[in-house]
Amino acid sequence: MSVRIVIGAQWGDEGKGKIVDILSAQADYVARYQGGANAGHTLNFDGQTHILHLIPSGIFHHNTVCIIGNGVVIDPVTLLEEIDMVKNAGVDVDGRLLISETAHVILPYHKSLDKVGEMALGGKKIGTTGRGIGPAYVHKIARVGVRMMDLEDPDLLRKKMEVNLTEINARLATYNAELLELDEMYELMLESGKKLLPFICNTTDRFHKALKGGRNILLEGAQGALLDIDHGTYPYVTSSSPVSGGACTGTGIPPTAIENVMGITKAYCTRVGNGPFPTELTDMTGDKLREAGHEFGSTTGRPRRCGWVDLVALKYAVQINGINELVITKLDVLDEFETIKACTSYNIGGEEREEFPLRPKELDEVKPVYTEYKGWKTSTRMVKTYEDLPENTRKYLNALSDFLDVPIKIVSTGPGREETIIVGDL
Ligand code: IMP
Repeated sequence: MSVRIVIGAQWGDEGKGKIVDILSAQADYVARYQGGANAGHTLNFDGQTHILHLIPSGIFHHNTVCIIGNGVVIDPVTLLEEIDMVKNAGVDVDGRLLISETAHVILPYHKSLDKVGEMALGGKKIGTTGRGIGPAYVHKIARVGVRMMDLEDPDLLRKKMEVNLTEINARLATYNAELLELDEMYELMLESGKKLLPFICNTTDRFHKALKGGRNILLEGAQGALLDIDHGTYPYVTSSSPVSGGACTGTGIPPTAIENVMGITKAYCTRVGNGPFPTELTDMTGDKLREAGHEFGSTTGRPRRCGWVDLVALKYAVQINGINELVITKLDVLDEFETIKACTSYNIGGEEREEFPLRPKELDEVKPVYTEYKGWKTSTRMVKTYEDLPENTRKYLNALSDFLDVPIKIVSTGPGREETIIVGDL
């Protein structure tokens, strides 16, 4: 039996989809444990690109059972569209896709609330994906949320929606936003719920049967450690727990069952939405990274902010997640750079600091201190082994691994499954 958590170690978009897809070949179960359709996991294989928002990235491996865990917030309409997309790609989902009956539902009113929530912040917008994620978690914590199991109970569903809508419309009115009608929204949820019923079950029990049967389980985080509601750059965070601890609460798998925590980082760094980003480059180097890395959001299409890798932030991610395996993605994006930099400490108000500050004011003041590495100026895309990488590439990667004190397990040198270097055994 093995349980491995795969998490983003930066601000999301580290290339988790491809890595989970590769690891899924050996997994019996692949599960999502938090977030919702704010995530966009991109997979490239057989000359095709698939973007998944809710369904775990293991769905394209036919022997894998995919679970959407209790910690996820589910937009039933988006999920049904995604199920159709996957089916159209020739994938059989019957019996292979399970949805937790206790996962919370994102209703259309959550999306309206997401918009006015940003208006309420005035000039300090979070820059959410607008998918209703935050408001759905607000209702969950306030104990007035609709759960997937409620879609089976028309009276309860209507009652919950009615009560919530009265309050929501009062809030929308204060922003002169369009008020919402119950009937159409209720019918939509009831219809979508009926279609999703065959997938809804007690996934906690399924996980425990799988653990007892010695099966391999992969838990796939969405977003990244620095977007975590508790440990991220609050308030510029998402409303769930992408960190490894969230994998336990979001599935019902206990911490004692977790064997490995794999942290994924790009060879540089990106962020979408607002909030602190100490190593951000707003100059031509940043533009070059964005262009070479095609850094545009897979959920929203927004251009991503780009910068050098931040080892201070990554060290913090290693600490709060217990990362014991490292994956470096998008190495090829650095192929044409003369010089590559990595931030190894922060200068805050003239003082050199090695720990990641939690106070926004300090984060805003950070002046990154960089160590420079010589570029390799050659393509790494088809390199098959770590030893065959150019010497300067290995020097850079070894420096990252040494600084973080975590061994590198996988290096990704391009979007395709075959553009992957696996170091030792997985
Ligand atoms: P929300 O998750 O839509 O509420 O957005 C909150 C913050 O998290 C915003 O800055 C988003 O840009 C960011 N965010 C949410 N999902 C992702 C993701 O999958 N990748 C990167 N950033 C994300």
